[in-house]
Amino acid sequence: MRYLVTGGAGFIGSNFIRFVFKKYGDDAQVVNLDKLTYAGIRENLAEFEGKKNYRFQQGDIANPEDVAKAYEGVDGSGVDVVVNFAAETHVDRSLLEAGTFIQTDVHGVLVLLEEARKHAPKLRRFIQISTDEVYGSIDSGSFRETDPLNPRNPYSASKAGGDRMAYAYGQTYGLPVIVTRASNNFGPFQYPEKLIPLFVTNAIDNLPLPLYGDGKNVRDWLFVDDHCAAVDFLIEHGENHEVYNIGGGNELENREITDRILELTNRPKSLIKPVADRQGHDRRYSLDTQKLANRGFKCDTDFERALELTVRWYLDNEPWWRAIKEKSADYKAWMEKNYGARTSRPH
Ligand code: NAD
Ligand code: DAU
Repeated sequence: MRYLVTGGAGFIGSNFIRFVFKKYGDDAQVVNLDKLTYAGIRENLAEFEGKKNYRFQQGDIANPEDVAKAYEGVDGSGVDVVVNFAAETHVDRSLLEAGTFIQTDVHGVLVLLEEARKHAPKLRRFIQISTDEVYGSIDSGSFRETDPLNPRNPYSASKAGGDRMAYAYGQTYGLPVIVTRASNNFGPFQYPEKLIPLFVTNAIDNLPLPLYGDGKNVRDWLFVDDHCAAVDFLIEHGENHEVYNIGGGNELENREITDRILELTNRPKSLIKPVADRQGHDRRYSLDTQKLANRGFKCDTDFERALELTVRWYLDNEPWWRAIKEKSADYKAWMEKNYGARTSRPH
């Protein structure tokens, strides 16, 4: 199979490319189109550089020339499958500046779809990686794929735009589009601005863990390998023009996952620092995953084992996250101003 993976230098994209090469070996060809924003780290996939079936291309999904080049594939013969992971992904950053979210998460998707039209009917799949955040918050019960969208922050609104644009191109032009909506991922190579890697790395350094609001917001945690396996499954067994929820089935309040992180890093609860709540903070995300199960896929990683493995990865890969944390000075300053305590050592 010949893949175009966008955003492959980021967290889930890099895990997905590693998953594909592990599963399919030399039968897979992968072009990785990534702009290398602050969140893109080419070295995440250093082990594949120089291989004849892998091509890294630095470029922007919102730039038609970059996208046309990427659709040529590794060797000029084209691609069978597009998996669009590229996005601006952090809710807190979308509160700081939303324009780049619209540019990448909406307009970028449009550019990828326009190029897809030129390659139809040869293209087998176009997978748009959307998110559970497009449904908005739910107090009880779980969202189904047919529920109306109600995004409540600039990030999720931009993702909803890309989600619907991909769906519309499937309906209107018959493109082989599948939209996936996954819950909160965790695992190796996650940028240390998101809850789990931020808290694990802060705990290692005995820094405060800035818990927003009352810490009772609920997220459903999905191990990144399960997400990759689900996307791979849908490429093979999904139905075009359909939307699929991908949930981990591990709903926890933020304060519960924070406690687990402190236990696993052997740090005291006194490191927890309650800080101002995120603006417009969604209370709870929850997905009904019956549709994917009916198709034949279930996530099978044990949550506790996956969390332990993840914490171990950050303990074993300090140079990776220390380099990132040292570089992101502007963002750190903004976080300190708005939420306090994020980077300073406890007094
Ligand atoms: P990430 O922030 O770690 O990586 C995003 C990648 O996209 C980076 O490598 C970045 O350089 C690249 N990128 C950004 N703008 C680009 C552009 N204009 N052109 C090309 N590349 C660009 O993100 P992630 O957590 O790996 O998320 C990947 C996808 O999965 C996103 O679409 C996100 O919305 C979705 N998603 C994430 C989660 C999660 O919990 N992380 C859950 C559900 C869905
Ligand atoms: O649900 C899927 C989404 O999950 C993805 O679409 C997004 O790309 C991804 O960033 C993630 O969004 P969240 O906002 O849920 O993830 P984040 O890790 O930023 O926050 C998780 C929860 O932890 C949320 O309730 C806010 C809280 N939090 C987060 C940070 C960074 C804190 O309490 N303190 C923090 O410092």
